[in-house]
Amino acid sequence: MTVEVPNTVVVQARAKVNLFLRVLGRRSDGYHELETLIAPVELSDQLEIHARSDQEQFRTLALSLEVTGDPELIGDVPVDESNLVLRAARSLAEATGARGFADITLRKRVPSAAGLGGGSADAAATLVALNDLWACRLDDEALARVAQAVGSDVPALLVRGAAVARGRGERVEPVRMASLNLALATLPFGISTADAFQWWDEDGGRTGPDPEPLLDAAERGDLEALGKLVYNDLEDVVMARHPVIGEARQRLLEAGAVGVVMCGSGPTLAAVLPPDESFKPPKDLDVTLLHTVEGGTDE
Ligand code: C5P
Repeated sequence: MTVEVPNTVVVQARAKVNLFLRVLGRRSDGYHELETLIAPVELSDQLEIHARSDQEQFRTLALSLEVTGDPELIGDVPVDESNLVLRAARSLAEATGARGFADITLRKRVPSAAGLGGGSADAAATLVALNDLWACRLDDEALARVAQAVGSDVPALLVRGAAVARGRGERVEPVRMASLNLALATLPFGISTADAFQWWDEDGGRTGPDPEPLLDAAERGDLEALGKLVYNDLEDVVMARHPVIGEARQRLLEAGAVGVVMCGSGPTLAAVLPPDESFKPPKDLDVTLLHTVEGGTDE
């Protein structure tokens, strides 16, 4: 007798913003030592994953990926193994010896190469789902090790709530943070993370302040203090090459934002909004109003 087990799931992969991003220095392996506060937001890709693993029945691993969504959003999203979704699935199978299949449909809503961690969130959601569907039974620590090999941002996005990431991004500590109202301003081009870090090296590498007061303001939900404290060490070096981002930041501040910070390696800007709804989105910017979210389950 065979027992039918559910082998399809639909999961949401949430984008993130970085409320501070501190670059401490370049390491001998070429990566940079970081400290960053990552907060998930209500903007997500959706993955439908149909998968099964059975060491008796399957001799190989078969992976497939289809990407759907607005043509403008999916234009640059690869469907081959350079997509982090397939890299995550392959890495999990290699780590556990799983044989079988995974057919994945990725519905993109998060812009790529925007600093919002879209691809990394997709990879994190894939690892969690396949760990279950393939019955790999990796514990959190083992899954985080696979995540790190897929990309520096992936371990922090396994957490699903606000977290401080350190090291290359792999040392993750969940933190408490009040929900914030944000405006995300996306700009119509992408930036390579590797380029942004290289520009930081070229420009002499400035390191921002101790984040303790910022973390304290984020936990208390003190918007005025938090808005003034947000920072990103990659911001100046990216804005020096893309002045349009600095102009957009200025317009968000003039429109009433309490503070504005670039997400990851950019170009998206996150504006911390005042509670009184006095912020009026500038007409010439592509702005989405949303909240940060505190962990929780997938909708
Ligand atoms: O780990 P991931 O592949 O996402 O990183 C992309 C690139 O960003 C790396 O190749 C590296 O150039 C840069 N990076 C870095 N330090 C980090 C994370 C990323 O220099 N902590």
